[in-house]
Amino acid sequence: MAKQTKTIHSKALLAKARAMRKRAYAPYSKYTVGAALLGKSGKVYLGCNVENASYGLAICAERNAVAQAVAAGEREFDAIAISASGPAPVPPCGMCRQTLAEFMPPETPVFSENHHGKQAHWTVGELLPYAFTKRFF
Ligand code: THU
Repeated sequence: MAKQTKTIHSKALLAKARAMRKRAYAPYSKYTVGAALLGKSGKVYLGCNVENASYGLAICAERNAVAQAVAAGEREFDAIAISASGPAPVPPCGMCRQTLAEFMPPETPVFSENHHGKQAHWTVGELLPYAFTKRFF
């Protein structure tokens, strides 16, 4: 993927998440999610949800995107965008909040949109105050 500028607009990041949603493998929930994670390098890492016949094995789009980034060698991020269906823009699940808190400082923005383009945004710290992190070790 071509290098993106660091100042990528939330709209552009959401557009990437929306496009990635089409790759979701969600035959059980039918709830498709795409995520786009902006690395400090300016590169964008993408993830979709991947479900399994053994339901508990589902991986969320957000954690998939983080895994893609870490596997590519990037561990610091400026923002994440999420696109999903449903009546309201989805915030990341609890497990994903913990994963985001591992790699993103509390002020990092989380942008979200539903399939009608309705948008919301939070920070990682708002979504998971008092996160358990390596600072406690
Ligand atoms: N899911 C995500 O990918 N991200 C979220 O933020 C919420 C939930 C996925 C997991 C599962 O494949 C489906 O949505 C329904 O829970």
